[in-house]
Amino acid sequence: MSPLILQNVVKDYPQGSRSVRALDGVSLEITRGQFVAVMGASGSGKSTLLHLMAGLTRPTSGQVRVNGQDLARLSESDLTRFRRDKIGLVFQSFNLIPTLTAEENILLPLRLARRITHADRERVDQIIQTLGLQHRRDHSPDALSGGEQQRVAIGRALINDPAVLLADEPTGNLDSVNSRSVCELLRDLCFMHGKTIVLVTHEASVAAYASDVVVIKDGKMIERFSTELITDQQELAARYQQAVQ
Ligand SMILES: Nc1ncnc2c1ncn2[C@@H]1O[C@H](COP(=O)(O)OP(=O)(O)OP(=O)(O)O)[C@@H](O)[C@H]1O
Ligand SMILES: [Mg+2]
Repeated sequence: MSPLILQNVVKDYPQGSRSVRALDGVSLEITRGQFVAVMGASGSGKSTLLHLMAGLTRPTSGQVRVNGQDLARLSESDLTRFRRDKIGLVFQSFNLIPTLTAEENILLPLRLARRITHADRERVDQIIQTLGLQHRRDHSPDALSGGEQQRVAIGRALINDPAVLLADEPTGNLDSVNSRSVCELLRDLCFMHGKTIVLVTHEASVAAYASDVVVIKDGKMIERFSTELITDQQELAARYQQAVQ
């Protein structure tokens, strides 16, 4: 069973007396362990696509299935619970709690849900190791670099062991060094830990870390290709340009 299946998804946003069609019939299947980069111009519908996958918004028509669950069948409260348990979300802004340490920020989703167990502590240790933050676990966000802060945000998204990790321009606020370190972490999470990842970006240098690239134009998916035979980011950028022309 694929963790993410979208079938003919349409999303209209009301705009005064008219409406904007942000997504126009997107069908997409992402299999377990795939790392998919979604590329497209500003306003093409990338964030809308990610928000639908996350159940943050509902489609006007079409179906979104996450981990076998048709999101339309869930009530608002069940959807909130499903999102908390099955979906990891990362955004351009890190949204960390400034008064908590790195470790406490990672643990926050669990702490809000229940008491922290010994197994949770072991899990957070493991995650901190994967994130390469062993020496930063007691630092507050303002004592971390941008890349480290985004790593903490990724750790917080992973603490519930979600079925999918969804990231909207996670390197958008980072310089090139920190951007690279976050991309390498995402790649490792996919290739070494089998995570299923969808990443929105408009940078070929970021998309190059993914296993697949999906191109969105005017709310439609116009291209999907594997990066396996693509040698560098220039070639990827050229392939993208060719698609959107
Ligand atoms: N809440 C909303 N209400 C009305 N229109 C919206 C809303 N959210 C998005 N849109 C419109 O839907 C279209 C797609 O927006 P979306 O945010 O998905 O684009 P994007 O590809 O993520 O762009 P960017 O790269 O700038 O983040 C745009 O035309 C946008 O103006
Ligand atoms: Mg966006």
